[in-house]
Amino acid sequence: MKIVVDLQERSYPIYIEKGILTNVNQYIDLQRKVLIVTDTGVPSKYSECVQKQCKEATIVCIEQGESSKNIENYQALIQKMLELGFSRKDLMIAVGGGVVGDLCGFVASTYMRGIDFINIPTTTLAQVDSSIGGKTAIDLGNVKNCIGSFYQPKAVFIDPNTLDTLSNRHFYSGLVEALKSGAIYDQELFELLEDCDVKEQIEEILYRSLMVKKAVVEIDEKELGLRKILNFGHTLGHGIESASNYELLHGEAVALGMVKMVEDESVRKRLVRVLEKWNMPLEYEYDKQKSFEYMLHDKKKVANMVSVVQVKEIGQACIIDMTQEELKVKF
Ligand SMILES: NC(=O)c1ccc[n+]([C@@H]2O[C@H](COP(=O)([O-])OP(=O)(O)OC[C@H]3O[C@@H](n4cnc5c(N)ncnc54)[C@H](O)[C@@H]3O)[C@@H](O)[C@H]2O)c1
Repeated sequence: MKIVVDLQERSYPIYIEKGILTNVNQYIDLQRKVLIVTDTGVPSKYSECVQKQCKEATIVCIEQGESSKNIENYQALIQKMLELGFSRKDLMIAVGGGVVGDLCGFVASTYMRGIDFINIPTTTLAQVDSSIGGKTAIDLGNVKNCIGSFYQPKAVFIDPNTLDTLSNRHFYSGLVEALKSGAIYDQELFELLEDCDVKEQIEEILYRSLMVKKAVVEIDEKELGLRKILNFGHTLGHGIESASNYELLHGEAVALGMVKMVEDESVRKRLVRVLEKWNMPLEYEYDKQKSFEYMLHDKKKVANMVSVVQVKEIGQACIIDMTQEELKVKF
């Protein structure tokens, strides 16, 4: 399957195919210097498989976990490319989840004012969501994504076979982003997630989720309006994720954030039913004051007002402004 994200000169293909990891060189010029970034939790066979297809590739393996999306790793990767004599014509490839993708994309966007970047996502979260759309970022301490850029990849290769090695906790928490996409934009996707065996229908889920993101990003690449709906559950979720010191995974925190934001009882019930089926920790204890303070660092705040996403009916989202006081009681 191939989807094209149409952004004029920044357009790029997304390939979804079991086994495509072994054929990346058929689609992309790998006859140049390549820096492959992966992490210690990603089975090394994936990055090595890509390395074998390159003429001259170096693998850098960072420590797994959110805390690796940091400025030290950013600097180390830039330093590595300088040492290896990378020019603007060379290439970075991320092989891993959203952590590796966000970090690698940000490095690529700034090295010599931007070099080519390819994303090979290997988690459900990265395959249904974070690998497309061009948001790249690193964190500063517990403040998530506060340094970043919009920088589109040249191509995205999604091999659903790589999900076979993913833990169930990461598998299901990553699907929360797909559930979010269904809730805000695609009722049929939401219904599919309610009813199907997600492991059996994973390709359909990937495709539909990516189509939602593509549609939204093509209309509003830089999040000036519509794209904000992709943040459903994220304003509260990011605050909770930070306050949990990343004990909660991104998808788990977003799950809590969605449930807390929804006011319509029937929408909440349907969300909770799926999230419980996926064992999301909806009863999690966290420091509400701390979460609120982290949320205030969020860039989506203007003066006293915060833009938040509300879902009143499955498949349809709206953006509303709330005061900080109104939002505080939602935690
Ligand atoms: N850029 C965006 O648009 C966007 C959107 C949503 C989330 N994000 C970011 O994505 C990050 C979360 O991404 P994530 O959930 O993929 O987490 P992650 O990158 O930390 O990956 C989760 C874990 O799975 C391991 N792993 C990865 N692939 C594996 C595989 N195939 N088999 C076995 N283990 C594997 C990793 O080593 C890691 O320990 C957060 O930093 C979040 O802010 C970005």
